[in-house]
Amino acid sequence: MKRIYLDNAATTPLDPEVFEAMKPMMLEMYGNPSSTHAHGREVRTKIERARKTVAELLNTTPSEIFFTSGGTEADNTAITCSVEAYDLKHLITSKIEHKAVLQTAEKLEAQGKVKLSFVDLDHQGHIDYDHLNSLLKDNSRSMVSIMHANNEIGTLNDIARIGEMCKEYDAVFHSDTVQTMGHFKHDLQALACHFIVGAGHKFNGPKGVGFLRVCKSKKIGRFVEGGGQERNHRGGTENVYGIVGLAKALEIAYRDMESHQKHIQGLKTRMIEGLKNNISGIEFNGDIREGHSLYTVLNASFPAHEDNDMLLFNLDINGISASGGSACSSGANTGSHVLTGIKADPERQGIRFSFGKYSTADEVDYTVEKLVEILNPVHA
Ligand SMILES: Cc1ncc(COP(=O)(O)O)c(C=O)c1O
Repeated sequence: MKRIYLDNAATTPLDPEVFEAMKPMMLEMYGNPSSTHAHGREVRTKIERARKTVAELLNTTPSEIFFTSGGTEADNTAITCSVEAYDLKHLITSKIEHKAVLQTAEKLEAQGKVKLSFVDLDHQGHIDYDHLNSLLKDNSRSMVSIMHANNEIGTLNDIARIGEMCKEYDAVFHSDTVQTMGHFKHDLQALACHFIVGAGHKFNGPKGVGFLRVCKSKKIGRFVEGGGQERNHRGGTENVYGIVGLAKALEIAYRDMESHQKHIQGLKTRMIEGLKNNISGIEFNGDIREGHSLYTVLNASFPAHEDNDMLLFNLDINGISASGGSACSSGANTGSHVLTGIKADPERQGIRFSFGKYSTADEVDYTVEKLVEILNPVHA
């Protein structure tokens, strides 16, 4: 049976070029990068080269890049360490952030360290900038954590605008950029954002590796106790092949961004048209307008039906991998805090289709065809 992968927001396949870059780190360069002998030094050089690559692509300096185990650790660290380092008393976030942010925020609130405020959202998941402004105005020593693109519905927030607002009120700004890293260009000289993050597996790199950018104007403490790795901030022997792979993947993503963006946006538009033309009552969650939406993500909202719970399962047995919510609930319909957060109709079924550079028009057409079959005779 044909298998189609439309869950690229959960993770992406490894690019063979990235694998080639990682291979020597797995088989030949096995020294510990903290060792001062030649075996260690050659591996250290690779890590520092990877850091330089990431920094140059983001238009920042290598000393601002800290490698982590992924997006979750980077998000946790940015928030927890900022609150501690700057004795922040107020945390502003939104109800549709990834759990890596939400649970961190809720924990800090439960520990009595911060007052937590949720910025209002519209029905498509955009933040209310006026409300954010009043939250900032009414509370000093604030931290703002607002994602660039939502991972379930794709709606983009204007992080440049949020950054300027944070600057005005002297607030610390973290943005969960996991879904846009490698898909949009981030220029950190221009962007007023203290902390952004990336996860290698979202842009055809390896899993289990990511990074946190800490703006040089902000100092945070150690986040993993142990050795002196990551300039004394994160103890533990580095994920050397992961780091080398992540840097290579980001390099490729930046190199090919324009053509991939065009290709993937084309697939998304094709899917929108295919669904609109073939499934009555179809709607979409989030802002689907080009330029206002993450081009890799499309959240389709199917009309209420008693078999809705089976939709993902039926797609799966027809060879199509999609998702009902975030990466953590791929393949399972566990209910989505994002759809709840934008007050989507709970009777309807939201399915996230997410596209990558290896996705094809044939796969999109086949998926629409199968959906029509699955929903038949209700919609045919
Ligand atoms: C928006 C967002 N933030 C954070 C994460 C967590 O990243 P990781 O799985 O690399 O820890 C994800 C993963 O799906 C995500 O989509």
